[in-house]
Amino acid sequence: MFCKASLIAVALALLSSATPVAQESGSTIALTKRGSLTKDDGTFDHDMAIYSTVRTHNKHRQNMINMERNEGRLPAGASIKPARVFRMPHQKRQKEPLTDEENDLEWAGTVSIGTPGQSFLIDFDTGSSDLWVPSVNCTSSTCSTKHKYNAATSSSDVKKPGTFSILYGDGSTVSGPIYTETVNVAGIKSTGQYFSPVNTLSDSFSNDPIDGILGLAFPAISNLRQNPFFSNAVQERAVKSGVFGMKLASSGSELYLGGTDTSQYTGSIEYHSVTGSGFWQASGAKILLSGKSVITGFQTVIDSGTTIMYGPPSAVQTFYKSIPGSKLYDSTNGYYSFPCKSVPSVSFNWGGKNWVISAANFNLGQTYQGSGQCVGALAGQDLGLGNNVWLLGDSFMKNVYTAFSFDKNSVGFATLS
Ligand SMILES: *[C@@H]1O[C@H](CO)[C@@H](O)[C@H](O)[C@H]1NC(C)=O
Repeated sequence: MFCKASLIAVALALLSSATPVAQESGSTIALTKRGSLTKDDGTFDHDMAIYSTVRTHNKHRQNMINMERNEGRLPAGASIKPARVFRMPHQKRQKEPLTDEENDLEWAGTVSIGTPGQSFLIDFDTGSSDLWVPSVNCTSSTCSTKHKYNAATSSSDVKKPGTFSILYGDGSTVSGPIYTETVNVAGIKSTGQYFSPVNTLSDSFSNDPIDGILGLAFPAISNLRQNPFFSNAVQERAVKSGVFGMKLASSGSELYLGGTDTSQYTGSIEYHSVTGSGFWQASGAKILLSGKSVITGFQTVIDSGTTIMYGPPSAVQTFYKSIPGSKLYDSTNGYYSFPCKSVPSVSFNWGGKNWVISAANFNLGQTYQGSGQCVGALAGQDLGLGNNVWLLGDSFMKNVYTAFSFDKNSVGFATLS
């Protein structure tokens, strides 16, 4: 656990001193740690978890809206769910300003936009496809602590027609005009990169050190209907290969652009073909409990912008039924508990290795101090992503090295070194 003040200090230090480390084939960008849904006292942070679920729900709702508009149709069984709204209890936030309560929920690193470059602390999100940062014209209090993009001081800005608008977890929107710019991430430059400097920024970002989001998924879910940063960099041959790798851990998290960072994993990468058009999605998955298969034949979306893991409500119910002593904890948000003294050994398999989720990554903490029941990092939630589609966020990604290959149109996993 760490406090907000130190997190912001780290973030600011990164902003001023981020020097990309050039490697043989690609570039590394250091990421700061994502906060957890567990409080300092070891109990489950229920409000933060609901907030996180609602933010995930609205993000993927927006992805489906974008996909239907861009592609003219949705994947089988997919739908546009009603938007959800959740406001963090205000008093609680004020009372605990420097606790885990206020943790950010992203893997953040720096990005430079414009000429000369303006620096921003950005959440790298493999589950969305747009780039936005606050605009100098954003006058709301939420923007007061943020780095803001100013077109007037850049020589490479081009204003484009239209507006960008997406809904976030507290029901408010993030919106602004559309520009193209030169965007630089760890020395990898994308020119003519579409992005939005936003004029309205929802309150939910006020206690969050990040300035904006950079999507790393496919153009099919882009709200701007344009190539996301990495796709554009690949097209412009700014990187040697159309591959990026992510290591998400409590320390030493990084994004590697233009290949995979072989110092971070051992053995080979187990690749699986991407299915569908919008996401880093692999089919033929199964979930195992203590090495025994419980549910088979589903799809998985690998999303660094989601904190936990979600599956269809009925499948997740079946899964927890096979764990002795497990109980439904929050029926609205699909959270379950299990006896803390025996954290289930959960793994996913796509036809190769069993990729095991550590007890620390599966256990979100006790339902209350001394309860003996702990909440699991897998929740039942219909996000509208389609039949049998599960969403695997950090609770999964923290256990593996993940490779995202546009070259092979595949997503792969390797054993962390
Ligand atoms: C902000 O407002 C000014 C003045 O209206 C305008 O010229 C500029 O393009 C706006 N946007 C940004 C991102 O600077």
